[in-house]
Amino acid sequence: MYICALTQLNRMKSNIEIQRIEKSKIDSVDFNNLPFGSVYSDHMLECTYTNGAWQTPVIKPYAPISLDPSAKIFHYGQSIFEGMKAYKDKDGKSLLFRPLENWKRLNKSAKRLVIPEIPEEIFMNGLTKLLEVDANWIPTNDGSSLYIRPFMFASGLGFHASPANEYKFVICTAPSGAYFAGKVKVLIEEKYARAANGGVGFAKAGGNYAAQFYPTQLAIEKGYNQVIWTDDNSHEYIEEAGAMNIFIRINDTLITSPTSDRILDGITRRSVLQIAEDLNIDVEVRKITVSEVIAAAQSGSLKEMFGAGTAAVISPIAGFGYKDTDYDLPELSEPFAQKLKKAITDIQTNKAEDPHGWRVFI
Ligand code: PLP
Ligand code: COI
Repeated sequence: MYICALTQLNRMKSNIEIQRIEKSKIDSVDFNNLPFGSVYSDHMLECTYTNGAWQTPVIKPYAPISLDPSAKIFHYGQSIFEGMKAYKDKDGKSLLFRPLENWKRLNKSAKRLVIPEIPEEIFMNGLTKLLEVDANWIPTNDGSSLYIRPFMFASGLGFHASPANEYKFVICTAPSGAYFAGKVKVLIEEKYARAANGGVGFAKAGGNYAAQFYPTQLAIEKGYNQVIWTDDNSHEYIEEAGAMNIFIRINDTLITSPTSDRILDGITRRSVLQIAEDLNIDVEVRKITVSEVIAAAQSGSLKEMFGAGTAAVISPIAGFGYKDTDYDLPELSEPFAQKLKKAITDIQTNKAEDPHGWRVFI
């Protein structure tokens, strides 16, 4: 069991109620052909916040959640989530990658959406217990993992536009394969924005993703897979790639935008920055303009673009569109994206040293 600092200090044990499934559905799952995030493991964790306190978490069979139609989640979208993954190493040991960073970010999102913060003990002990119960669901084949979706939402009632007085914290898991199949072509956004200064772009609020669907649908209709988000004011600065942070390689320098009110502080992004430094790759964290990228594409100095995020890991971008012109990226024999992806996944699956202490064994 994971022991958090608080628990060590107070010598308390977190209480978790466990209701096991009668018959596992695991035999119906083809682990060699896993989609992303659409096959769910046997159990889920649910914890309710009521009367001003988080109650005992319950691990129970995966099943629908029943809600009153006046629950505030339906009306005011008070909802946040995280995305993380569990892996198995070659000896069958289960492990997580930087899970406390997800816990911290969930609480950062919670604060912005006026959702009560979840204690480390409930998050970490609940998660590790759930993964112990569903350990067989963590895939072992290369490129697959158990995608973990912790989320919190307003289950309290009322049409008054104010924060709810009751919330749910839930964790579901899904054995998953690759997020993207095939080459990724992106469209640089000129009109819509996913986030604005002072808004909730830095939080993993469900509404941020709902707001992305329409511009993404327009991009898909034009033959692209994803939108490259630009700043809401001038659309001149490149900010994120769909639900990933973006990296751009010009000559041998890797550039990524600084985080802000509008950009999610990705854990993969931070890990890539650290690994790039370890590999002696020149990195610049600075604003990058669309015109600089177009000029680099035209002069041949634009070598790579890739997205980085938990679900998609590192996704190379094959080409991009901007103002009715398409630009292709060169096919390199040893791209940074490949090197960085291997380095990060080797750490995640215990195939390489973990110099920064990112792994947590369950
Ligand atoms: N940016 C957005 C908007 C995201 O939804 C995600 C996914 O979590 C990321 C970036 C990457 O963050 P992380 O690497 O922590 O998964
Ligand atoms: C993740 O990378 O975990 C995310 O949360 C992206 C998601 C919207 C699929």
